[in-house]
Amino acid sequence: MLNEVSKKVRDIFKENYSSTPHLYYSPGRINFIGEHIDYNDGFVMPAAINKGIYYAIALNNTEEINFTSVDFNEKLTINTRDIKKMTGWKNYVLSVVNEFLLLKKEVKGFDCVFGGDIADGAGISSSAAVEGGLAFGINELFNFGLNRKELALLCQRAEHNFPGVMCGIMDQYANMFGKKDNVILLDCRSVEHEYFPLKLEGYEIVLINTKVHHNLASSEYNVRRKQCEQGLEILKKEKGINSFRDIKSSNELLPFKDKMGDKVYDRCKYVVEEILRTQQAAKLLQQNNLSEFGKLMFDTHEGLSKLYEVSCKELDFLVEKARENKDVIGSRMMGGGFGGCTINIIKKESIKDFLSDATVAYQKKFQIEPEVIEVQIGDGTNEISI
Ligand code: GLA
Repeated sequence: MLNEVSKKVRDIFKENYSSTPHLYYSPGRINFIGEHIDYNDGFVMPAAINKGIYYAIALNNTEEINFTSVDFNEKLTINTRDIKKMTGWKNYVLSVVNEFLLLKKEVKGFDCVFGGDIADGAGISSSAAVEGGLAFGINELFNFGLNRKELALLCQRAEHNFPGVMCGIMDQYANMFGKKDNVILLDCRSVEHEYFPLKLEGYEIVLINTKVHHNLASSEYNVRRKQCEQGLEILKKEKGINSFRDIKSSNELLPFKDKMGDKVYDRCKYVVEEILRTQQAAKLLQQNNLSEFGKLMFDTHEGLSKLYEVSCKELDFLVEKARENKDVIGSRMMGGGFGGCTINIIKKESIKDFLSDATVAYQKKFQIEPEVIEVQIGDGTNEISI
């Protein structure tokens, strides 16, 4: 069944082109725990959600690609031989096409209209949704034969290339491998996953969007990644380890603090603790021990805010509000940081009260109306019938 957004995408396609398109749905993601450790050999626990990007695509038997972004109300026509770096949304779609070309896959002309129901900058990875839907569609329409893992990796490379964000694999993987009502436990070292069903009995997941997206987000992301690499280099040399995963307690980092300097040391401390915490959290979630699991989410937030320094006052405020309410058993910032959403696990009967309390207080403090986003765990990218 098509919803409003997918109908709109399909209808705009029909107004502009005479062919019948294929329709694809590509989800955003949430992440329960394991933040900023996908590029540090950790485990992460994302899930695809029931909100994302819809694509209507059809081949046009020319050498021209016609993109229409419904959300930005912009168009782009480009020859397949002229694919190059541009700005904004164009970078994401063009980079995906470019990755196919780099694999010597001959992408020909097509018409493409896309739009969605996830906000840019909300920390639910609209970028991976934009990349995943297009990559999946191109792969199907041209019969390139890449599997889901290859597509996820292609999308990750696409994000590194034109947009220049050196992201890990979590978002693109969740986008391709999402499974309804299941959490993905992804080992980012082996790039293998297992699913486990999420049983929230009596609790619900609620996202609160701060509606801020500080500009630092992508530049600081790359800085964090560099700082982790620097720290790991020192540990490799001095301690003979290959990965943060080989460290069993953050105390093992202390002897290297001077060599690392305070900032790099703090980043590494967070990474080591978060890798251990996520493994612990995965066990707790599998045992349905939600209250202990939730405590670890608060600890993650503390680490992201104080040691990794990717939070902001708006996110900290919402997590603090959650901490004051005993029926919110876990809360933390989610995604890359510097704005976007908090993810909260809340007792069902207290959701309404908590949300009205937290959103009113937030608005009073920041003069911004936060957005409550209700999500369900859904399937990964797929074709849907028109
Ligand atoms: C962004 C990146 C991911 C991951 C998260 C932080 O969403 O795209 O690869 O690093 O930030 O966990």
